[in-house]
Amino acid sequence: MECSLHFGQVEGWAMKLTLSVIKADIGSVGGHVSPSKHLRETVASYIAEQGTRLILDHYVSYTGDDIAILMTHSRGEGDEQIHRLAWDAFRIGAEAARQEGLYGAGQDLLKDSFSGNVKGMGPAVAELEFDERPNEPFLFFAADKTDPGAYNLPLYLAFADVMNTPGLILSPRISRGFRFVIMDVNHTTGDRVIELDAPEDLYDIAALLRDPERYVVVESVWSRAGGEQAVAVATSRLHNIAGKYTGKDDPVMLVRVQMDFPATGEVLAPYAIGHFVGGCMRGSHQMPLMPVTLNTGISYFDGPPIVSCAGFCVHNGKLTEPIDGFAQPFWDTVRGHVANKAMEIRRQGFIGTAMLPMSELEYTGIAQKLSSLDEKFHMRVTEKVHAIN
Ligand code: F6R
Ligand code: MG
Ligand code: MG
Repeated sequence: MECSLHFGQVEGWAMKLTLSVIKADIGSVGGHVSPSKHLRETVASYIAEQGTRLILDHYVSYTGDDIAILMTHSRGEGDEQIHRLAWDAFRIGAEAARQEGLYGAGQDLLKDSFSGNVKGMGPAVAELEFDERPNEPFLFFAADKTDPGAYNLPLYLAFADVMNTPGLILSPRISRGFRFVIMDVNHTTGDRVIELDAPEDLYDIAALLRDPERYVVVESVWSRAGGEQAVAVATSRLHNIAGKYTGKDDPVMLVRVQMDFPATGEVLAPYAIGHFVGGCMRGSHQMPLMPVTLNTGISYFDGPPIVSCAGFCVHNGKLTEPIDGFAQPFWDTVRGHVANKAMEIRRQGFIGTAMLPMSELEYTGIAQKLSSLDEKFHMRVTEKVHAIN
């Protein structure tokens, strides 16, 4: 827990708690690999020093080249001061990254001045506000070298598929199902959402989630038994903000677990699949998602895309130390399996599904090549084969 610091809290306070996680890539060592120790410490000490009056607790970590600031507070979602605190920590971090000469310094800070909320400014945000249960376990996921659609399959399996989640038949309350709020992020007139209920709308949910580059599970999956929010996913797409690709979105996610929600193990189990997601090298490939331990960097083929999970209990806004969701020896076997899948698809290089479709490529090289080749195409008028002379 290198960068984590705790503040005091009001003893015995039954409270409406907000969890806010805000993450950004503001520079890294050796390419898009991981932030420097100095950069991590700069961000963590800014939050520790400037956050005392605002937040109850925090935890700063990294996944690949992204730094995530998890904060607990009672100010609600989208709070200007909480967002400003994170924005300023990243801005000061970006300056430190520039001074160290880190690669991509300040990359995800797409706007010059803060305008009340970091949504739409580059950093990814996931927030959950709820009445704290007497014991409140939750999971914080962070993924690198991929986009928010990476969580589609794990969320579908955890919240809607009894083959993964026996709680859906074992627990009468969980049996009442979950509401999925799904966002269409590429719609031309702006983001739009749809609310669908599992199990009745299962096939509609599946039909939408099958296209992870377009639809994402939004900030919310809700328990139909208690009406409480279980999941918040960061849905921002950097290329929708910047007007061009500036890097993969590398989404964070918060998931409340147990009681009315799936158990921790039911939420983690789908990551054993190592399903293929968009991202990896130059943000332009399909590669399997590897569950990794906290504070892991990037390596093979600028990937593979990774996901980490820190589990906490929170009480009166105070966080326990994190447990590392993917450190247990079971996940070593999964990692071996995912590494084999990754090497297998890489044998296919640039052909077919190994590379993302045109609309999702982070680079313009292929589009330029195709348009310059376009004028060299000519209609075939005879069946004759032209000999080279
Ligand atoms: C995501 C990430 C990648 C890069 C992409 C392009 O964290 O780092 O999506 O944005 O690989 O990187 P450049 O063009 O800087 O080599
Ligand atoms: Mg990056
Ligand atoms: Mg990243």
